[in-house]
Amino acid sequence: MLRTQVGIVGAGPAGLMLGHLLHLRGIDSVILENRSREHVIDRVRAGVLEQGTVDLMVAAGVGDRLQREGMRHEGIYIAFNRQRHRIDMAALTGGRAITIYGQSEVVKDLMAARLATGRPLHFEVEGLVPTGLDTDAAVVRFTAQGEEHEVACDFVAGCDGFHGVCRTAIPVERITVYEREYPFGWLGILARASPSSPELVYSNHPRGFALFSMRSQSVTRLYLQCAPDEDLSAWADDRIWAEFRARFDLEDGWLPHEGEIFQKGVTGMRSFVVEPMRYGRLFLAGDAAHIVPPTGAKGLNLAMADVDRLANALAAYYRSGSRSPLDDYSDRGLRRTWRAQRFSWWMTTMLHRLPDEAPFDHKRQLAELEYLVSSRAAMTSLAENYVGMEFD
Ligand code: FAD
Ligand code: PHB
Repeated sequence: MLRTQVGIVGAGPAGLMLGHLLHLRGIDSVILENRSREHVIDRVRAGVLEQGTVDLMVAAGVGDRLQREGMRHEGIYIAFNRQRHRIDMAALTGGRAITIYGQSEVVKDLMAARLATGRPLHFEVEGLVPTGLDTDAAVVRFTAQGEEHEVACDFVAGCDGFHGVCRTAIPVERITVYEREYPFGWLGILARASPSSPELVYSNHPRGFALFSMRSQSVTRLYLQCAPDEDLSAWADDRIWAEFRARFDLEDGWLPHEGEIFQKGVTGMRSFVVEPMRYGRLFLAGDAAHIVPPTGAKGLNLAMADVDRLANALAAYYRSGSRSPLDDYSDRGLRRTWRAQRFSWWMTTMLHRLPDEAPFDHKRQLAELEYLVSSRAAMTSLAENYVGMEFD
């Protein structure tokens, strides 16, 4: 049987970053991913990195391209009632900002770093099952290229996302799940068009929420609120652009630049937390433990904060035998998670239209937005949550 110190399930941002942080601390790991390398890279998801995530990547030696190509944003726009309002995040938070750098790029950089270490990273593994998690003999079993394998692990890191198998390996009576689904989703596109605003625009419009973002100087990323099970085939490119023109109908005449749409997808939205984030020798990190609706741009950043904390806790254990950082891993993560949950829920409910919304709800939402953009205290609250808490 193979042996490793940490068996990492999932090669998304959480699993890859954890593997790298452990490598830097001289700790062995095996990373096991059930999809292909291309699939993991091509999955178009997050774009907003908090300062803490950027600092972590730079400190871990995987931030060179991020520092060259990432786009630092010191503000965002909130649009409603045909007006855009800028929130100057840097001015309100003592100079903190976010960086636009696609999750695909983060994953590419982390995969390159892993390959350079020569440590194991296996794609397309099948039937992975973690066992013995509450004993001193945790073992991960899986099949690769038709052959069965077993890896004995001191610890297992469940970095396998919301649909993974690690969380479901925990007996139900040992965890509590908190969950909310939203009655809408996002239709997201990538278009070959230069960004027409240097900063993101979040819009609350009677036809539904819309968001303008970007990936580079030549690629625009846009989202529009849709049904959770929206049929993409009903959205020809012309209809998509017409909908964005309607939802970004502003008095100043600003509109996204249009161009060839080369990627389209629909994402449902949920808030989800599992408590605790640990079961015996299994530690859950990232989307395996918590999901936030993307309106607050927190998911990837929470995943990075988890693995930073976990790597430090594992390093303390291997260095001195101390278990207390591992014992604190879940409580500290849950504090950060719930803060991000509250913020993401608040941004989501302030900016989206509910299908069965009463006129009262809409008026209340507008009052909330008016207050937000007219109060320095309210803008500071948004700004400090958006740029993110310091990592531990
Ligand atoms: P994942 O990226 O889901 O990775 C888990 C990995 O585990 C996957 O590669 C999966 O294939 C693998 N896996 C699953 N099951 C198994 C198994 N049984 N065996 C082996 N491997 C398995 N976050 C932000 O911070 N900012 C944003 O701007 C933002 N925007 C978003 C926009 C959209 C449209 C979406 C969908 C998400 C967005 N997010 C954002 C959230 C962010 O993408 C996720 O939080 C992030 O991917 C979490 O990383 P992870 O590594 O925990 O999970
Ligand atoms: C993105 O660029 O993909 C993005 C930006 C802001 C969000 C969510 C996603 O809130």
